[in-house]
Amino acid sequence: MTSHRIILDCDPGRDDALAIALTLASPEEIELIGITTVAGNVPLELTQRNARFLCELCGHVDVPVHAGARRPLTRAPVTAEEVHGRSGLEGLEVDEPSMPLQDQHAVDFITETLRASGEEGVTLVACGPLTNIAMVVSDAPKVLPNVRQIVLMGGVSRVGGNVTPVAEFNIHADPEAAAAVFACGRPITVFSLDATYQVLSGPDHAGRLESLGGATAQRLACLLRPFGGGAKGRFGPGHTPLHDPCTVAWLLRPHLFEAQSVPVVVETEGAHTLGATVVDWWGVTGEPPNAQWVTKADGDGVLDLLIERIARL
Ligand code: RIB
Ligand code: CA
Repeated sequence: MTSHRIILDCDPGRDDALAIALTLASPEEIELIGITTVAGNVPLELTQRNARFLCELCGHVDVPVHAGARRPLTRAPVTAEEVHGRSGLEGLEVDEPSMPLQDQHAVDFITETLRASGEEGVTLVACGPLTNIAMVVSDAPKVLPNVRQIVLMGGVSRVGGNVTPVAEFNIHADPEAAAAVFACGRPITVFSLDATYQVLSGPDHAGRLESLGGATAQRLACLLRPFGGGAKGRFGPGHTPLHDPCTVAWLLRPHLFEAQSVPVVVETEGAHTLGATVVDWWGVTGEPPNAQWVTKADGDGVLDLLIERIARL
């Protein structure tokens, strides 16, 4: 009996790839019901292809991969090739996967899985723009009680944005979707840049994984090395933050993190603040808390877990 039954919604994406690998390397604790993909770092055609390639690379062609939204709810699509490369998995040689893409749309898959889940419910882990999750929230409100919790990577409050001074990519890409998810009423744990900037992969981490792991780990180790622009030089030479795997690491080792219960809303109109996650740290709005905002991360502990698990693949 695993502790967590999850659907992983993502936009692979170099750090999404680490979240997928960590999940697949942890079958004792996590049952991965399926992967749903969304347009984000690169277009949907590539995020769904990358998800299938990664499942095959990790020896799990049994995991159903579904394609979801190819654009945000109302806005034009944005991408992040400068961080993830044109393939979305820069640094990795991506083989064309042989495992099929499922015919069912991701939103229908999530909805049907929730409808069929027992009282245990399903944890939704979201590592990309929240378009698919928002469509479930709006199209199928009756299944929401079966959402055990939402664990998402997105947003920023204290350390400054990575797309604008106040907005993080996943939220900024589809602010309307994010606003709907934060208002859905289900338990939400948020891994914003406030937390993920404490989880830095450095030059020795890739080497450690290469020395510990087999062929799969050898290929994935490049994802622990920085690539592309991102926040150039902000984290020291050769270091890069690992955003998405923090969500899965929390499911596996919650003690590696600390969080605070806060009210959070998403700005959907501001000329300079579009996509900002507005956290009411001191309760000045009088609004009830709707999220657990992760404020502290044991970066070394997360990297140790990531390397130990991925070396198993
Ligand atoms: O801002 C970081 C987030 O945006 C990560 O999920 C990364 O994969 C991109 O989707
Ligand atoms: Ca992502």
